[in-house]
Amino acid sequence: MRAALLTEPGSLLELVDDVELAGPRSGEVCVAVSHSGICHSDLTIIEGGYLFPAVLGHEAAGVVAAVGDGVGHVSPGDKVMITPLAPCGHCDGCARQQASRCPQAMSFVAGTRPDSTSPFSRAGQLVHRGLGVGAFAQHTVVPASGVVRLDDDIPLEVACLIGCAVQTGVGAVLNTAKVERGSTVVVTGLGGVGISAVQGARIAGAARIIASDPVESRRQAALHLGATDAVGGDAGELREAVADATGGQGADYAFETAGVANLVRLGLEVTGAGGTTVVVGAPPPEHTVDIGSVTVFMIQQKRLVGSLLGDCWPNRDIPRLVGLWQRGQLDLESMITHRVPLAGVNEGFNRLRAAEGVRTVVEVTPAS
Ligand SMILES: NC(=O)c1ccc[n+]([C@@H]2O[C@H](COP(=O)([O-])OP(=O)(O)OC[C@H]3O[C@@H](n4cnc5c(N)ncnc54)[C@H](O)[C@@H]3O)[C@@H](O)[C@H]2O)c1
Ligand SMILES: [Zn+2]
Ligand SMILES: [Zn+2]
Repeated sequence: MRAALLTEPGSLLELVDDVELAGPRSGEVCVAVSHSGICHSDLTIIEGGYLFPAVLGHEAAGVVAAVGDGVGHVSPGDKVMITPLAPCGHCDGCARQQASRCPQAMSFVAGTRPDSTSPFSRAGQLVHRGLGVGAFAQHTVVPASGVVRLDDDIPLEVACLIGCAVQTGVGAVLNTAKVERGSTVVVTGLGGVGISAVQGARIAGAARIIASDPVESRRQAALHLGATDAVGGDAGELREAVADATGGQGADYAFETAGVANLVRLGLEVTGAGGTTVVVGAPPPEHTVDIGSVTVFMIQQKRLVGSLLGDCWPNRDIPRLVGLWQRGQLDLESMITHRVPLAGVNEGFNRLRAAEGVRTVVEVTPAS
């Protein structure tokens, strides 16, 4: 099978034709991948060498090719999107609908099934299923609970974005932070994830949405999609904009969506008493940040929380996000600024490094 393979840390992905894929086990689904967005988390894996060899690509949609035993909610030929966090459905975490507490769902980080196997191999060697999905390949095999059926009229290139950027950004706002109408929201970092957070804040009815990114075209995209104010990447400029917007009170919410550890501290600074800073970005794990005196958490009742995949629960939240798109409240089309074939995936990563456009979508199987 053809796939774009990460063979060693820091390298370009290599287009190969000899990746082998095992058929779906019981409770798994084989999906013919049609589209996969390019997310910064894959770039962090490439540059950090955390996982290889690996088939990356975790923001995907496609068509069901085959199902394993016991799979009833999708059948071959169904249009589906894939979510990286596939819950087991019967652990304590699943009882609370918290995928981050489910061992099966969290095996996505290791790029294997919970039993350390992978459906992908090459010349007898294990190939990781990057971030639980492995979509830069013609087909992938994933747990059935991570596969959500779509209505036939939803374009797959639009649906794929929900798989990571959209559920992460919109979910961070609606699920993790539960932003209230009239709030002042700061979003630092305006890639696919940050732009989705901006849209989430607009949907939540935030009164002011202050978006920050050093890249002018991304600030323009944010203003188009719901931001009320946009500033560059300078911390002083952001502090001033927030002070102006809030009469010096500070923002209600700050979302770190750039993957820059120091911005977490900036979020804590620009939020006011009772404010919440949400860590969405994923800097390399070795990047740490000094958050200064912890007394502010007590005196000012500030909160610092993390958000994985927007705290989304597949069957509850994916249909909700699709519904927002169907009603015209979530603009996904404007987020797709570039398309490349699988052979052009490295070009897409270069564009991500340069923060060009918003999302590049890889057309893995352009016919569908
Ligand atoms: N929490 C999750 O579940 C989850 C899911 C997906 C992605 N992520 C992470 O979210 C982050 C964003 O992903 P993406 O695909 O949108 O990335 P991206 O590279 O497209 O966007 C990041 C943006 O941050 C901007 N930026 C850099 N420094 C900045 C600064 N000092 N101030 C303001 N903006 C700054 C860049 O110019 C860029 O536009 C990454 O770290 C990614 O790994 C987390
Ligand atoms: Zn992602
Ligand atoms: Zn579970």
